[in-house]
Amino acid sequence: MISISDLHAAYGPLPVLFGVSLDIAAGETLALIGSNGAGKSTTFATLTGFLRPTQGQVRFADLDLARASPRRIVEAGLSMVPEGRRLFPSLTVEENLLVGAHARRRGDWTLDRVYEVFPTLLPLRRRPSMHLSGGQQQLVAIGRALMANPRVLLCDELSLGLSPAAVDTVYAAVSRLRAEGMTMLLVEQDIGRALAGSDRYACMRHGRIVLEGPSAAADRQAISDAYFGMEA
Ligand SMILES: Nc1ncnc2c1ncn2[C@@H]1O[C@H](COP(=O)(O)OP(=O)(O)OP(=O)(O)O)[C@@H](O)[C@H]1O
Ligand SMILES: [Mg+2]
Repeated sequence: MISISDLHAAYGPLPVLFGVSLDIAAGETLALIGSNGAGKSTTFATLTGFLRPTQGQVRFADLDLARASPRRIVEAGLSMVPEGRRLFPSLTVEENLLVGAHARRRGDWTLDRVYEVFPTLLPLRRRPSMHLSGGQQQLVAIGRALMANPRVLLCDELSLGLSPAAVDTVYAAVSRLRAEGMTMLLVEQDIGRALAGSDRYACMRHGRIVLEGPSAAADRQAISDAYFGMEA
């Protein structure tokens, strides 16, 4: 469904991705892991139209993501949960969710369905998002992305800055979406969470994929060696 091949990207004169290739099949959850500065968010940015690759292909179904506008990309069915959540602090939970419906495709996701899948948000729906916990805010950010009725959900660092209990809540929500057959890319620094919440993983280092495979059969030692740059 998503196909990245030989992707190179740069910030001005500074190259940061050096030939990244990845595929995500329909209904699959891929975890993209790697330490700070590995290039995860940069890869993510090329999928959402925020950064144009300098070389290589990024495709979503029939759409060339390297050329499409961010709006066209959302309309085609890619939605993202950005790093740091980026909610409107003074808007209520429900108003933030409705922001996600702005470029909405046809589909099943409605406010009622978001509250059904994330029941903890229902009693909070009139509360300004700045008065929520970090974990609650993360659920709102996921719900907002779902309100666009995506075919693929891209999540950057869902666990960032959250307590372990809040991360549990957020990843329980991810499992529910996986069980419903949502196609997802999870960018995640937490290797354990990433493997538990995905079908396949790819580990990045210095702008390259250094290891990948099925999450269930993952060799934790090999991953942590690749993650920290101790690969043979
Ligand atoms: N806006 C930017 N301008 C210049 N360089 C950038 C910019 N954003 C990221 N970089 C550089 O690109 C490289 C890859 O960064 P990227 O944000 O993709 O890493 P990451 O894997 O998401 O890391 P983290 O886990 O810290 O979020 C790093 O060397 C980083 O310093
Ligand atoms: Mg990042």
